[in-house]
Amino acid sequence: MALDVEKIRKDFPILKTQMNGKQLVYLDSAATSQKPKQVINAISRYYKTYNANIHRAIYKISEEATEGYIDSKEKLAKFIHAKKGLEIIYVRNTTEAINLVSLSWGNDNIKQGDHILISKMEHHSNIVPWQMLAKKKGAMLDYIELTPSMHIDMEDYKRKLQSRPKIVAFTHASNVLGTINDAKLMTKLAHDAGAVVLVDGAQSVPHIPVNVQEIDCDFFALSSHKMLGPSGIGALYAKEAMLDAMNPLFGGGDMIRSVDLQQSTWNELPWKFEAGTQNIEGAIGLRAAVKYLKKLGMENVHEHEKTLTRYALQRLSEIDYVKVHGPGINDVEKRLGVISFTIQGVHPHDAAAVLDSEGVAIRSGHHCAMPLVRNIIGQPAVSRMSFYIYNREEEIDKAIDAVSKAKKMFSK
Ligand SMILES: Cc1ncc(COP(=O)(O)O)c(C=O)c1O
Repeated sequence: MALDVEKIRKDFPILKTQMNGKQLVYLDSAATSQKPKQVINAISRYYKTYNANIHRAIYKISEEATEGYIDSKEKLAKFIHAKKGLEIIYVRNTTEAINLVSLSWGNDNIKQGDHILISKMEHHSNIVPWQMLAKKKGAMLDYIELTPSMHIDMEDYKRKLQSRPKIVAFTHASNVLGTINDAKLMTKLAHDAGAVVLVDGAQSVPHIPVNVQEIDCDFFALSSHKMLGPSGIGALYAKEAMLDAMNPLFGGGDMIRSVDLQQSTWNELPWKFEAGTQNIEGAIGLRAAVKYLKKLGMENVHEHEKTLTRYALQRLSEIDYVKVHGPGINDVEKRLGVISFTIQGVHPHDAAAVLDSEGVAIRSGHHCAMPLVRNIIGQPAVSRMSFYIYNREEEIDKAIDAVSKAKKMFSK
């Protein structure tokens, strides 16, 4: 079913904003999404009518806040098809979710000489924690190569699995290339080689249907702020057995069952991993975001983005001085609405500045993926436009008009 974009746009107050005197065209949802009034109102209602700490009191509004927090996990669990709400640990963002795994699971399971395998299309969030762990433990960090069409090189992957890595961590979808990886197949191959699997779902959960049980990964990380929810909250999904076997990372309130002078015992899941007062309003906002996306239908969300991506790739392919870095128009089915590109003779920062002056928000830089952008794409920086449920074709037209303006300005 096609999304009713005009109706959706009415839910996003920010889209009425002017930027540099022009109607805002927001094409940077891969960095963070805009928020519908349903999310803003849910947070506002929490603060106005039932703000209280959770777990700790038996008065009505505290119970209501606790119920909202727990229900948020249940709803998110259902959204990504986890078995149970207790498999969802709330953290600050994808980055923290990955660090939680590297610091807790990694610390207990990685030993000197072990291999850790990641891909060359990872965000720094899925590189640096593994580098830190490898350094601390004297482990080896290996990288899966990419094909010229900017996909995971599956032959190289199978070769690298022969070194029997303890953990394989890869992104479900690239924030630079838009490539969607076959997470289910990659997980199966990793499991067959005896590895535990972490999937970085920061870009996939907001844009495509995700089923963690079908993927069968052991860990899955996501951020609320990229999926219409507030920032400051994200989730680590992990299979219950993995969480049971792991040690908590932080000690403090709520994560304990009992505390003696010299030792403590841990609370049951998921609370064992959530020390201290949590981001309650974040959980309430994320629940509203999940409800919003669920109502639209993730298949429909992806269809809408595919239509926009096809249109944008077609239009960009007609411009001979623009090069797109990522899978082409024939790969739209397995692609996000994230398009990185360079304009011959125009630095990406200059391009972004010209687009900004036209009211168009795109991003330029290394997109927190330096090894990919510098070594594989071979540029110091690239420009990136990314789409979401509220974007329409005429906004892509505006962006492309600004691209030709940038070209004219800088190739004089
Ligand atoms: C693929 C990918 N992984 C991880 C992250 C990190 O997300 P956060 O900054 O919310 O932790 C991002 C953010 O852009 C991303 O695109």
